[in-house]
Amino acid sequence: MTSKPFLVLGLMSGTSADGIDVALARISGAPPHLNAKLLGHTSFQFPPALRKEILRVAEQHPISAGELSQLNFRLGHIYANAILAACKKFKIAPRRIDLIGNHGQTIFHQGQPADYFGRPTASTLQIGDGSVIAARTGIITVSDFRPADMALGGQGAPLVPFADYALYRHPKLGRISLNIGGIANVTVIPAGAPPDQVLAFDTGPGNMVIDALVQHFTHGRQRFDKDARLAQGGRSIPALLNELIKDPYLKLAPPKSTGREYYGRTYVEKILVLGRRYRAKPNDLIRAATIFTALSVVHALNCFVLRKHKIHQLIVSGGGARNPLILAQLSAALGRVWSPVGAQHAAPGPATRASSRNIEIVCSSQFGISSDAKEAFAFALLAYQTLHQRPANLPSATGACRPAILGKISYAPPR
Ligand SMILES: Nc1ncnc2c1ncn2[C@@H]1O[C@H](COP(=O)(O)OP(=O)(O)O)[C@@H](O)[C@H]1O
Ligand SMILES: [Mg+2]
Repeated sequence: MTSKPFLVLGLMSGTSADGIDVALARISGAPPHLNAKLLGHTSFQFPPALRKEILRVAEQHPISAGELSQLNFRLGHIYANAILAACKKFKIAPRRIDLIGNHGQTIFHQGQPADYFGRPTASTLQIGDGSVIAARTGIITVSDFRPADMALGGQGAPLVPFADYALYRHPKLGRISLNIGGIANVTVIPAGAPPDQVLAFDTGPGNMVIDALVQHFTHGRQRFDKDARLAQGGRSIPALLNELIKDPYLKLAPPKSTGREYYGRTYVEKILVLGRRYRAKPNDLIRAATIFTALSVVHALNCFVLRKHKIHQLIVSGGGARNPLILAQLSAALGRVWSPVGAQHAAPGPATRASSRNIEIVCSSQFGISSDAKEAFAFALLAYQTLHQRPANLPSATGACRPAILGKISYAPPR
């Protein structure tokens, strides 16, 4: 079973709720000799009204059991539509696809146990029903990846480190994979490290706070700060930045994970209050949030990683890899070169800053994985592991007491 290459579609719809990324991967072998190649990537936006509802629910506004059930099924249909459309785009018949790995839409994530009716309880909920997807596409579907890790005491996140390790581990180079989605997270892979020495955690906000401010100030006309144009037009207010950097999440030691429950609406309202206190104009505040996002990554690496491990490369992916101000800040604090997104074969440049950490900052596209495809590709790999009854969590990353076979399998109806 391990030798036959599988064609797998991985789907990711992250906390930004901007839409669905679909990656087509060819995968064969088994760890430590897993071969995975990204063959294609495409993405689809959620219908605007549905996106609004997803965000409303994820912000923990009230929803009835009936509405939640409807949303779960409706999302299943939307994922199925995305798969069928992706197959058309990739010019491949759905019956040639062996497997789907669908992350689903997170609407709640409590990684660390919190009091619930007198008992500490941790839980997570990703929706978009797998049986609907399997029935509509005729393809075996793995979904609901996180609970198996949580059932073993893990935080259920992050799960992408399994793929990072498979793709990026190197005998001589220490590497960090940084994904800047709604939330930003890192996977730290020291040179020659076995899987149990991989460290991974959410560093703090990714694009989530920036997006929320942009939507607030443009009254929803703009969903995000394309190419950091608004932030570049703002001025820096150091005292405001100092306030932001006091965020208690940054001080928590890993393993740790976060989400919209923390960096959502209430958080942004606090930033708006701060903005008024420091007389920040909209662009000033968007600039502050952008720099804060980058600094929260730098802070995490300085506190929890770089003192212990020699790191040579920082490999950036996710929508935030397209934000030039975030990248400039990372380069200034850590790096020696930024190879722009899309520059597949950029040569490493000379050191520019003696005071920086001299880490080479590169885009995941230089490893054959475009920055938008990275997480979807990872869920293709995770599903492949599940189908072969092999684990795909890294307990060192999630805090689980042992490896878990992740997800739930929905079989397609017989042909
Ligand atoms: N050209 C760009 N300039 C600045 N930010 C961008 C650009 N393209 C995408 N983004 C940011 O990336 C976000 C989407 O990132 P993504 O990796 O899909 O996150 P998630 O996994 O949470 O869905 C957008 O909401 C936006 O903030
Ligand atoms: Mg997205």
